[in-house]
Amino acid sequence: MDIKRVSVIGLGKLGACMLAGIASKGVKVIGVDNDAARVKIVNQGHAPLFEPRLEQFFRRYKKKISASTDYYTAVLNSDISFIVVPTPSLANGEFSLSFVAKAAKELGKALAQKQSYHTVVLTSTVLPGTMDNCVKPLLERFSGKKCAKDFGLCYNPEFIALGTVIKNFLNPDFVLIGESDKNSGFLLEKFYRNICENKPAIARMDFINAELTKISVNSFVTTKITFANMLSFMAQKLPGGNVDVVTKALGYDSRIGSRYLKGGLGFGGPCFPRDNSALSAVAGKLGIEATIPKATDKFNRQVILSVFKLIAAKAKKSDSIGILGLSYKPLSNVIEESQPVFLAKKLLKSGYRVVLYDPLAMNNLKMVFGKKVSYAKSARQAVLNSDIAVIANSDPEFMRIKNSVFENNRRRLIVIDCWRVFFNRGLERKQGIEYVPLGVNSAAVK
Ligand SMILES: NC(=O)c1ccc[n+]([C@@H]2O[C@H](COP(=O)([O-])OP(=O)(O)OC[C@H]3O[C@@H](n4cnc5c(N)ncnc54)[C@H](O)[C@@H]3O)[C@@H](O)[C@H]2O)c1
Repeated sequence: MDIKRVSVIGLGKLGACMLAGIASKGVKVIGVDNDAARVKIVNQGHAPLFEPRLEQFFRRYKKKISASTDYYTAVLNSDISFIVVPTPSLANGEFSLSFVAKAAKELGKALAQKQSYHTVVLTSTVLPGTMDNCVKPLLERFSGKKCAKDFGLCYNPEFIALGTVIKNFLNPDFVLIGESDKNSGFLLEKFYRNICENKPAIARMDFINAELTKISVNSFVTTKITFANMLSFMAQKLPGGNVDVVTKALGYDSRIGSRYLKGGLGFGGPCFPRDNSALSAVAGKLGIEATIPKATDKFNRQVILSVFKLIAAKAKKSDSIGILGLSYKPLSNVIEESQPVFLAKKLLKSGYRVVLYDPLAMNNLKMVFGKKVSYAKSARQAVLNSDIAVIANSDPEFMRIKNSVFENNRRRLIVIDCWRVFFNRGLERKQGIEYVPLGVNSAAVK
């Protein structure tokens, strides 16, 4: 059977992009969200949130897309339902299942009304044991039906990065499927074979191994990022050291690879830190000391502390410290668990005057910092208003700042370049400018 009609429960950062991506392949999709405002926006043919290309997709494929607050409408009018609701982190590192449980109950009740076979897919990130101990029993209880016999169930988390969600969804490195039975897994595999623009590997397995795989992927990537950051601090102290020279060469080794191997300000965002902590929590529960994810997390926090100390060693109390780039990564407006935001908070707490600029995240920043900081209208203005300018992410806009902007700053100017955006651009030779590229020893800055 080919899947012709899909429903997506939860129209957030991931779910809205899935809706658009699936519709772009000619499949009819119905979105469900308990936020009526989101549903209304989708039904008007617009994206409910910002993500590159999303609005364009919603407009182009609006005939294939609809939305509702009602689970019944969605389940009765689709063959498969993806649950993409939040699983927020708890203080102990585990994930809350409150949204997933609510969605499973509602979906179960809707399933009870449906005569034909339906497949339920959990896409939200969950911890090992969730499918067997929470999702499956709730669906069975509220539908009165038997999993794998009356309805199919899969765990199918996505590996997407904000900023490139649609591209990643339609071109995944691999598709991970945990399945209640062979038929359900086969159906989902076929679905992906039809909608993916590439030919991804498809890893099918039982629930428990899929759940462990999902959190391991992000945790492994954070370890790699952290390794590069450790090298960065080492290179900075070794006469002539330059982290980019080292990581570039390391990346040529096919066992290592170059992706996510760059010294910088560490990792952040809605997924990496929490998935890494979750792996620790799961290991701890199993009586295994999670030394690797714990060390990764600790080192990542130290990155901010080290940059703070570097700034404090150079700053006068009256200095204005400008931070350029506050989203957790370039081309995003997301500031959740953002390393530059942690740095800004630490500087504020220590009494410095802070100037913030980000190409996309200004509204979100204003909600967090209010009147405690000043906001620059452009990258140029941020530089001109700073005694110390910290380039905290590598947004392409910053690469376009001309050297003359730094030279025009009437104050003494220290540029702390966390991603070496301006390395070898001659800033280091300009009078009145102290250029400090993170991860590069001063003897290598010529
Ligand atoms: N955002 C990412 O980068 C990313 C990447 C990989 C995995 N994930 C995982 O995907 C899941 C969703 O993440 P997100 O970032 O899209 O969340 P989000 O907070 O952006 O959106 C969640 C949406 O679900 C809706 N919702 C909540 N409860 C609901 C319910 N009972 N019924 C219907 N709608 C409901 C909310 O109104 C919201 O629109 C999480 O488990 C997350 O870990 C997210």
